[in-house]
Amino acid sequence: MIGFAFGVAAFTLCVGLVATFGLTRLPTARLQLIAFALLAVLLPIWIVFFSGWAMFHMGDDVKILAVASGAASAAVAAALVIGTSLARRIERLRAASARLAAGDLSARAPETGPRELAELGRAFNDMASSIESLFDARRELVAAASHDLRTPIASITAMLEAIEDGLAEGSEYLVPLQEQARRLASLVEDLFELARIDAGSLAHELHEISLAPLVESCLRGFEAEAKARNVRLEQRLEPAPPARCAPEQVERVLLNLLTNALRHTPSDGTVAVALAHAEDEVRISVEDTGEGISAETARRMFDRFWRSDSARSADGSGAGLGLAIARGLVEAQGGRIWAEARESGGARVSFTLPTASQ
Ligand SMILES: Nc1ncnc2c1ncn2[C@@H]1O[C@H](COP(=O)(O)OP(=O)(O)O)[C@@H](O)[C@H]1O
Ligand SMILES: [Mg+2]
Repeated sequence: MIGFAFGVAAFTLCVGLVATFGLTRLPTARLQLIAFALLAVLLPIWIVFFSGWAMFHMGDDVKILAVASGAASAAVAAALVIGTSLARRIERLRAASARLAAGDLSARAPETGPRELAELGRAFNDMASSIESLFDARRELVAAASHDLRTPIASITAMLEAIEDGLAEGSEYLVPLQEQARRLASLVEDLFELARIDAGSLAHELHEISLAPLVESCLRGFEAEAKARNVRLEQRLEPAPPARCAPEQVERVLLNLLTNALRHTPSDGTVAVALAHAEDEVRISVEDTGEGISAETARRMFDRFWRSDSARSADGSGAGLGLAIARGLVEAQGGRIWAEARESGGARVSFTLPTASQ
């Protein structure tokens, strides 16, 4: 009898396992739930009937059947309700992603219902929000770029028309025409650099280099301009281990910071570059004795096309991309960049690069 009981138990287990495997093959979650409910009810019924038959006590089979079919119907109904509600919520999520895929960036999924689905909805909405803000930023960038490109183009067109109408000699406008063409070229070059930073395609080879000679050579490149502006150039280079970086990108960052510092420093002022070493990074700071920066400027000056009002109205100022490019290049090399007002007046812009041992 014991052997027979084990045989029945093994048979029931096998039927249950095969049926469970079959469940996972059903095409929808709703069908899986219904089949699961049927399985959960029919297997015990089979046991009840079988044990009744085995013990020769099968006198009241109609009642057993009635109770069993009531329980089975309730389980199937419950599975139907849960399945339908889950399927409806999943369908709303699918509809929201279809809207997003079709370009409707305002599409959002419901964040209600069972915890897993609510979390899925929240994750979807977070993703949709970041895509939306990325697109907004892109739109603003294109608008700002078109505006800044239009200004030199309008000025070139006006000068060319004046020459064509005989109102001015060609030679008279040669220098301003060259200047506007140079502005256009540098703006296009900056936009191209930003696009490369965004695409993450700055294929810079990281080398282990000592930054002191690089700082010295950059400063030498600014000597003539500093002299012309009557600004003193200083360097404070502490001993530091080699940094792991792309030298030409670091030069570009320094060039942008030094250009700004010189532009913002009045005659008789000083621009200094300091090199220091702290823990596992090397820090380069460019300081000036110019008008300094407010807390808002320090926060916003790395944004694309952002310029302070005074910089905007000043003649010969850039397009507001120099620091955005510097930030992109520094971060691509694993560093940080920030700006602060110096206590003694003027601004300090610093960036770090990881040391070679990293
Ligand atoms: N050394 C500095 N002192 C004061 N303000 C600065 C300094 N460097 C940058 N800024 C401010 O940050 C703005 C953005 O700088 P940047 O991105 O280099 O653009 P751009 O040089 O083309 O104006 C500048 O227009 C200026 O308002
Ligand atoms: Mg600049």
